[in-house]
Amino acid sequence: MKRLIAMVTMMLAIACSNAQVIQSPDGALQLTFEVKDSIALYSLNFNNQPVLLKSKLGLEIANGPSFKEGFGIKDFKINKKDESWQPVLGEVKQIRNQYTELVVYLAQPAYQREIVIHFRLFNDGVGLRYEFPEQANLNYFVVKEEATEFALPGDAKAWWIPGDYDTQEYNYTTSKLSEVPQLFDKSYDGNASQTIAPGTLQTPLMMKTDNGFYLNFHEASLIDYPALHLSLDEDKFVLRSHLTPDAQGKKGYIQTPFQTPWRTVIVSKKAEDILSSKLVLNLNEPTKYENTDWIKPVKYVGVWWEMIMGKSTWNYANINNVHLGRTDYSKLQTNGTHAANTNYVKKYIDFAAKHGLDGVLVEGWNEGWEDWFGKSKEYVFDFVTPYPDFDMKTLADYASAKNVQLIMHHETSSAATNYERHFDTAFAFMDRYGYKAVKTGYVGNIIPRGEHHYSQWMVQHYQRVIDKALQHKVMVNSHESVHLTGLNRTYPNWIAAEAARGTEYEAFGGNNPEHTTILPFTRLVGGPMDYTPGIFQTRLDYYFPGDKRFVQTTLAKQLALYVTMYSPLQMAADIIDNYERFPDVFQFIKDVAVDWDDTKILSAEPGDHVLIARKAKAKDEWFVGALQMSKPGP
Ligand code: NOJ
Ligand code: CA
Repeated sequence: MKRLIAMVTMMLAIACSNAQVIQSPDGALQLTFEVKDSIALYSLNFNNQPVLLKSKLGLEIANGPSFKEGFGIKDFKINKKDESWQPVLGEVKQIRNQYTELVVYLAQPAYQREIVIHFRLFNDGVGLRYEFPEQANLNYFVVKEEATEFALPGDAKAWWIPGDYDTQEYNYTTSKLSEVPQLFDKSYDGNASQTIAPGTLQTPLMMKTDNGFYLNFHEASLIDYPALHLSLDEDKFVLRSHLTPDAQGKKGYIQTPFQTPWRTVIVSKKAEDILSSKLVLNLNEPTKYENTDWIKPVKYVGVWWEMIMGKSTWNYANINNVHLGRTDYSKLQTNGTHAANTNYVKKYIDFAAKHGLDGVLVEGWNEGWEDWFGKSKEYVFDFVTPYPDFDMKTLADYASAKNVQLIMHHETSSAATNYERHFDTAFAFMDRYGYKAVKTGYVGNIIPRGEHHYSQWMVQHYQRVIDKALQHKVMVNSHESVHLTGLNRTYPNWIAAEAARGTEYEAFGGNNPEHTTILPFTRLVGGPMDYTPGIFQTRLDYYFPGDKRFVQTTLAKQLALYVTMYSPLQMAADIIDNYERFPDVFQFIKDVAVDWDDTKILSAEPGDHVLIARKAKAKDEWFVGALQMSKPGP
């Protein structure tokens, strides 16, 4: 009886449901929400032209009734916001956060449950998210799939990489959406961690519609939830959310109250406006860090590129079975190619000091690299035991005396469990030796086995690392981690990530020449990238006679990337000998700023060109970077 009364009350409350329409602050975008035949739908117009047709909202639940139908509108609210905030590090000094918000309270009378959908309509696009309030009939549930749709009015040109639960390290394919199926298999090549999700594309996904609108699909504030992919219905031009599964194929264990990340669509008439959009950052929470003085921009060199191209090694000895704590490295013969040795690192510290660079990254400093890769080995590193030829104390003192930071390297080999077991001691060790930044890495298959780089458990893991780093006032540059979603607003010590195909691939088969004109429209929409530019010696036959590999670039392009590829952490990635060879060119890397007061996107088109001017933080100095694909001759 009680249940019946509750049901009737709920049905009365939702009797007057109707469509709700909101407009962006400038009136150009119009969002309509309605419940039709008990299904929640939204659509989006831009200057009175459809951008998204009626698109369904909802979720499928693995252990209960779905949130896809049976809805009625219980209530709604419209809020307006106009505020400004200052990022700790950023492309501009001040960011305006201005939107109209529609909050829809939906009831599912049959199950006596409610969910809330939030829409924030900015001048440059929309964010939407689901909220699950705590309630008698909704405490815990498991997501089978999220069922958010983006129904495009027609075919569009897209810049895309294939859906993959474990890597984004791909070149982009440019094609019509209708051509994706025939190009899909060609869009991926081998990768150390690869789990292709057929029929899906990764976000940020960039598009240009036939009527000339630029659209960008992504997510903001990815916390406690699997990362988003988009499955493509290429006949109807509908994109649907496709979440990264966990080891058991589930897509999120939820305890209410809970809110999903925001699903974002940036909309503009000009490609440049996609690059200046702050929508993703604005949808993230302000930082709660009381003190952010320790979060500083970093320009660094590193003992790195020589291992990537195969001139040196991370490993100290040539053995293939290491037992940490038992293998006695002092009794092993060094292979003679181990770069992370005290004398060599001192040269890097000298170089950084001489040229006013902030830091030196050293990879391969710690025991375990001999069998680090491809063994699904859990106890692969302990993060605190240096190789015999790497003198921690001497180097820490040397760097400190020269006012240079050493940057820690924590390759986890994707044994995330092992990293979590050791990160208390690992970060305490960093404190002891004065390290203020760490580069993390996740090469290979994840342990817990069966988990994916972008599943809920790993999203939580990256967060735990950021939280741990915060306790020690350490900045994190994560490689092979989940795509960024603007969380550097909330957690500004997550200073940058790789999470895309970076310069290293120039040694592993090459990056397409247009790659870096696409990345600002895709990967960088989520946040700063450690692309590691600055390779001056582009032909690798300089080191290895007969080697056909070369970095597909010009020297000027390597310099332009410091301006076009936003990151408050930038590497001068070449070996320092090459900077000594070309001091005039290196001068630009010395001079260029990494933190900015202002940014002007002067001209841009994905796949074609990017022209950006930026004003250095607190200085009256502007830097301009331009990338332009050369046009084929007549
Ligand atoms: C892949 C990273 O992207 C690269 O920068 C690093 O050197 C290797 N993993 C080894 O950790
Ligand atoms: Ca990588």
